[in-house]
Amino acid sequence: MTYASIKTVNCLHGPVDMKSLVLCLLAVACHGSTVKQQRRFPDDFLFGAATSAYQIEGAWNEDGKGENIWDRLVHTNPTVIQDLTTGDVAADSYHNYKRDVEMMRELGLNAYRFSISWARILPTGMANEINPAGVAYYNNLINEMVKYNITPMVTLYHWDLPQKLQDLGGLINPLFTEWYEDYARVVFENFGDRVKLFITFNEPSQICFEGFEYMNKAPLLNTFGVGVYLCAKHLVLAHARAYHLYNTEFKPTQGGQCGITISVNWFEADTDSAEDLMAAELMRQSQWGIYADPIFSAEGGLPRELLDRVAEKSAQQGFPRTRLSDFNEEEKAFIKGAADFFGVNHYTTVKVSATEHKQVYSVPSMLDDVNVGFYWPEENPKSASPWLSMAPNSIYHALTHLKEKYNNPKIYITENGWATYRNSSLIDNDRITYYRAAWESMLNTLDAGVNLKGYMVWSLLDNMEWLEGYIPCLGLYQVDYQDPARTRVARKSALVYKHLIKNRYIDYEYEPGNLTMTIDDGF
Ligand code: BGC
Repeated sequence: MTYASIKTVNCLHGPVDMKSLVLCLLAVACHGSTVKQQRRFPDDFLFGAATSAYQIEGAWNEDGKGENIWDRLVHTNPTVIQDLTTGDVAADSYHNYKRDVEMMRELGLNAYRFSISWARILPTGMANEINPAGVAYYNNLINEMVKYNITPMVTLYHWDLPQKLQDLGGLINPLFTEWYEDYARVVFENFGDRVKLFITFNEPSQICFEGFEYMNKAPLLNTFGVGVYLCAKHLVLAHARAYHLYNTEFKPTQGGQCGITISVNWFEADTDSAEDLMAAELMRQSQWGIYADPIFSAEGGLPRELLDRVAEKSAQQGFPRTRLSDFNEEEKAFIKGAADFFGVNHYTTVKVSATEHKQVYSVPSMLDDVNVGFYWPEENPKSASPWLSMAPNSIYHALTHLKEKYNNPKIYITENGWATYRNSSLIDNDRITYYRAAWESMLNTLDAGVNLKGYMVWSLLDNMEWLEGYIPCLGLYQVDYQDPARTRVARKSALVYKHLIKNRYIDYEYEPGNLTMTIDDGF
């Protein structure tokens, strides 16, 4: 067991001493109530919130920042964004970072995960030219957080590749691994004295599968069952290069940790049939195993069944060689074990079937290689985003699977959240229901011995939800986009999260009287 669980009764709120426990037990006995189990998160469990640069910063062309692939996409192909918006201003955190830190203090966050915009500090993507104003912005943000004991967790790449590097092929070019390592060096050198938790990439599958095949993320290229695999291998190698760079040149003096964040939603077999179980396994391998296995599995290298499937399909399709080959032995050894922790973004559960719910997939494509059907169960409550519904004990299923598969790695949940519609009430009871279920599931996960060390909600504040624009809102704080100052106000869920962080247990009876947030530093 990795956390302290205590027994308490329903007349107690928060930490208790022996005397009050005895009095309370007596009171309960007198009133005939039943004693119930109250589970707590450990005191050193990191509770935080997450954001990413493109989604909140704005200032897309200010103070020497270079263009990135999202700037290019929204300006040249505006109709792909559902509400025809851009991230040009977004929540304008570039100018409002002090208010953002104030919100972190109102919430009592232990940590804040944000990403660095590569093109803000290296306008062309290459490390020959560093933009001092960009470095100054992140220094100011980090210093402001550190001043109030909020641990920075920094993502180096959250989808906003400098456009100049995309012009050279981006992640499809094998030289990407070099450019990325150079960039990582600039980040470690400039911020590593204060930042102790680095995440190399956010959600490789959304970068490679959605960016090079599924047409759902920049650079929005359909590269037909080839680009996704090239991207995957270059990304994993780039991650390993950054990890080793940190490990050998920076960790000895800076003493931090370097990991990667992978989207691990739970892919569950529709039935217990062997076909459905294999379908779910193939879906897991293609959506996240392809990135996680080379780093976290005992054998290293890419997932076997996926390799076999792509080899078979490639041969049938007349390709002279497979579209997905494994890493060579030297690469395997270099990548294996190259992470201090596994960052997990978890939102939902998807059901997978070998025969049902199939669509027509392009040939060739990764979806055709895997060739399974998938769906979100009807009975699960739906959010304002079509891919996000609420599934029972979803975190537990995903994380206990990772524990078994990868020998119990250290895990941080680096994103988890719920989407409501833009003009819905600040009294966001559906988000609170989702969060409380997620937190229960996390306690189940801790009970099962998973090495889970922290949790970041997505998100601190509303932001630009990629192709969905500003339609879904995932913030604990609502942003007023009509107001040039981009005023932020707390939703009810912000108070409920604050209460959890302070007390470390889920209090179903807690009902905030109003939505006023105050700063109680040091609680
Ligand atoms: C991404 C975030 C995004 C969130 C909600 C995650 O996949 O990392 O950037 O905002 O999902 O859509």
